[in-house]
Amino acid sequence: MITVVGSINMDLVVGTERFPKQGETVLGNLYTTVPGGKGANQAVAAARLGGKVGMIGAVGTDPFGDDLASNLKNEGINTGGIKRVEGPSGIANILLSEGDNRIIVVPGANHELKPQDIDTCKRAIASSDLVVLQLEIPVPTVLRTLEIARTNRVPVILNPAPADGFTDEFLDCEPILTPNESEAAMMFGENWEQALEAHPNRLIVTLGKEGARYHDGERHVRVPGIQVNAVDTTGAGDTFNGALAVALAENMPMKDAIRFANAAASLSVEKFGAQGGMPARGETMERLRQLN
Ligand code: RIB
Ligand code: NA
Repeated sequence: MITVVGSINMDLVVGTERFPKQGETVLGNLYTTVPGGKGANQAVAAARLGGKVGMIGAVGTDPFGDDLASNLKNEGINTGGIKRVEGPSGIANILLSEGDNRIIVVPGANHELKPQDIDTCKRAIASSDLVVLQLEIPVPTVLRTLEIARTNRVPVILNPAPADGFTDEFLDCEPILTPNESEAAMMFGENWEQALEAHPNRLIVTLGKEGARYHDGERHVRVPGIQVNAVDTTGAGDTFNGALAVALAENMPMKDAIRFANAAASLSVEKFGAQGGMPARGETMERLRQLN
């Protein structure tokens, strides 16, 4: 089983021809709400790819809370670890324009996921094949999860996004880290490439459509990305992480696991919404075959 500990948001997506300037009002051309949140997205990605997934998180008592919980259930995810807290669910204000996105996350209920909640789910974490974390929940909650996983020798993927929540304390538990380039720079400085060697097979830097890099203990490895026509890159990183979790939980070697994750991420960006294009196992294997 893969246990994802993390955020659950409703994405309020607004599209416009161009980003408004400060103090300016522009007319948009799209508004919709779709389930998101880095934790939930990674859980959905893993479940669609055949992983047995349980999620630990929090939603609010607002109508979004119901929608978000039932969305995860419909994906076949065990939602026993999701608590309901008084007040609003987490939301992400996503502005889509000029082929890019700008996101503001308001944590809401996600902020109420506490270390005690992790203690309550200790057994599930201890018996997992792999645990997946991101940084849209409080740092002490992330730390408690890492500690329980370490004590029970359960491997962890920590996706350090957003990176401003990162602390070196996390490194003591030796998680697999999956920052993108700018997150890697925030964590290790502009010379983050040197950090690859210091954390062999544990620091995977994703490069968007250029793929990903890591050090395998002997040499630097770059796994090339897959060029596609991107419709919406929101959640591409989450798809990568969910897929990587499935592959590593199945004991795939790191390079193959990253290839698999790249293929899944490339499919995800071809459709609208964070979870919109997240592929099933078959489509992902098909894309990998096309590359060979
Ligand atoms: O990674 C994409 C996600 O980040 C969105 O779904 C949004 O909810 C934010 O958490
Ligand atoms: Na998508």
